[in-house]
Amino acid sequence: MKCSIVKNKNTNYLRLEIRNKIFKFSPIWLIEHSSDITIRDKQTNQLLIEAAELDLNLKINKFKINKSILSISFSNNSKHNYNINDLIAPKEYPKKTLWNSSLKKIPQYNFKKFNQKLLKDVLNAVDEYGFCLIKNMPTTKNGIHALTKHIGPIKETNWGNIADIKNIKKAYDLTMTERALENHTDNPYRFPTQGYIFLHCIKNSDVGGENTLADGFNIAKQIKSKNIEMFNILKSFKTFFQYKDKDTILENYCSLIETDYEDNIVQVRYNNRTEIIPYDDLCEINKYTEARSKFWKLIKSKVNNITIKQTSGDMIIMDNYRVLHGRSKYKDIKNQRYFRQGYLDRDILQSRLKTLAQ
Ligand SMILES: [Fe+2]
Repeated sequence: MKCSIVKNKNTNYLRLEIRNKIFKFSPIWLIEHSSDITIRDKQTNQLLIEAAELDLNLKINKFKINKSILSISFSNNSKHNYNINDLIAPKEYPKKTLWNSSLKKIPQYNFKKFNQKLLKDVLNAVDEYGFCLIKNMPTTKNGIHALTKHIGPIKETNWGNIADIKNIKKAYDLTMTERALENHTDNPYRFPTQGYIFLHCIKNSDVGGENTLADGFNIAKQIKSKNIEMFNILKSFKTFFQYKDKDTILENYCSLIETDYEDNIVQVRYNNRTEIIPYDDLCEINKYTEARSKFWKLIKSKVNNITIKQTSGDMIIMDNYRVLHGRSKYKDIKNQRYFRQGYLDRDILQSRLKTLAQ
């Protein structure tokens, strides 16, 4: 391990060479990462200083290394200690298993065996695969709560808390008809879009009504590796989604593929029923519609889809930022098909997942 102070304009930085990797730490960054009780509150881990007011010309005066502890003296007369392993720890990404129709085993759990370990396994599966199936949920009207009460509150929307999915005469959404539903993600017209869908079957139709699921991350990755130009169009073109009824107007300008600052795919959207492409330069529109058409072909391709026919007591949890879902049309002479659906916000489920991992 080699460590040195390097001059940089009016300030300097600490250069650390360790295991053939070079790290460069600015004095301000180091102060903000100090766990000293004058800098960060022990209980909340929140900053106690206004870091934006630190002197931009702050310098590192000297350092000392004792085993894995790095002690640094700064030009503002403060001194802070760091564990070197903490400073160089790589960013951890949650494990994502991408899948298509060749997925060997659907992640499946039995609610009758519910305990904290099963809850952890369920949430891990949703995080890793983007979905899972839970058998033997209560078939009562609000049976979803039997599980969600251990995770967090159902998201209230303009449709209420847990919503009915059944064939009704005055459908306010195409889900409320016997019509097939093409693969889509839910409600891209909301900002933020709801993170997770809990789709609970109280009774299915005898004929039809199977669910289709496609891994949007896998599809987006295929596009990225085969046609980067098309991928860039899908992530940069801001299309428009809208939902309107007499009491509600929900609107959102957003792209079909969302990436983070390291270009990792973090969200896919597809909901042609509620899309209204905004007016744009003809060339941009042509590029977008061509890319969307190819994206759609992959979304509906048999190779990318799995099918699940839910029976009474089955609940599918889906990551609405990743998995596209659809439904085949159904025939239900006695109109008995009855599903219930609830949403959970992304932060709520992710928080529960992280607290269970502690
Ligand atoms: Fe849906």
